[in-house]
Amino acid sequence: MEEIHRVAKLLYVSKYVIALTGAGISAESGIPTFRGKNGLWRKYRPEELATFQAFIRNPKLVWEWYAWRISMVLNAKPNPAHKALSKMEQMGILKAIITQNVDNLHERAGSKNIVKLHGDILKVRCIGCRYEKKLNEPPTEIPPRCPECGSLLRPGVVWFGEPIPPQALRETQIHMEKADTIIVIGTSGVVYPAAAIPYIIRERGGKVIEINISQTAITPITDYSLQGKAGEILPLIVKALEKLGY
Ligand code: OAD
Ligand code: ZN
Repeated sequence: MEEIHRVAKLLYVSKYVIALTGAGISAESGIPTFRGKNGLWRKYRPEELATFQAFIRNPKLVWEWYAWRISMVLNAKPNPAHKALSKMEQMGILKAIITQNVDNLHERAGSKNIVKLHGDILKVRCIGCRYEKKLNEPPTEIPPRCPECGSLLRPGVVWFGEPIPPQALRETQIHMEKADTIIVIGTSGVVYPAAAIPYIIRERGGKVIEINISQTAITPITDYSLQGKAGEILPLIVKALEKLGY
C-alpha cells in the first residue's frame, strides 16, 4: 500500500509517462499469455506457427490457430487494468501506451494514444496484392483467400523474423525520447525490440515501474516492482492519484 502511494507520487511529478504492455494485461480478460504455465507457446512451438515460413508451409494450421485467437479476442472484454490506463490518459498523466498485444482491448477500454508494435490480429492482408480488411468475426473459409487476386490472406501481426511496422517504430522513438517514466505491465521482457524500451529510458535517467505477477527480465532495472495482478494494482494507483487531486 505504501508502495502504491510512492508510485502515485512519482507519476504525479513525472512530465511524460508511458506504458509498455504485454500479454499479462489481457490475461484477466481470459486471453492466455504466450509464456508461463498456461502460455500459448506451451501447446504449440512458435516456429510451427508464428513465422512466415510456417504460414506458407501450412496455412491451414496457422489459420486455425489465429481463428481461435481471433474469436477469443472478439469475445473478451477490457478488464480493470485496461480501464485504469484509459483513465490515467484522461487524467493527463499517461501520454501513450506502447503495446505488444495484438488484441483490441486498450482501444475498447477507451485509450486513444496506442502504438501497436506487433500489429493487429483483427486486420488481415493479402500476401499477393495490397488488399486488406478488418475482421469482425473469424474467417469462415480456412485459410481465407483474397477476393481480388485469390492469394492467401495473412493475419496482420508481426511474426518472428519480421520487422516492426515502421510507423509504430517511429512513434515509439518519439515517446521514448520524451518519457521520464515508464510503467511496464504484464510482459516477460524477452522479445526485442520491445524489451529494450525500459532499458533505454532507464539509461537516460528515467524511472521504471513494473507491474507483474512474477519477476521478469526487467525487474533488476526497476525503481518500483509491484508484484500482483495488473487488474488489481492499476486501479489502486488510479485511486491514489485521485487522492492526490486528480
Ligand atoms: P509473455 O507471455 O511472454 O509474458 C506475460 C507476462 O505477463 C509474464 O511476465 C507474466 O508473469 C505476466 N502476467 C500474467 N498474468 C498477469 C496479470 N494478471 N497481471 C500482471 N502480469 C501478468 O507475453 P509478452 O511479454 O507480451 O510476440 O510476450 C511478448 C511477445 O512474445 C508477444 O507480443 C508475442 C510473443 O512472441 C509476437 O507474436 C511477435
Ligand atoms: Zn490479393
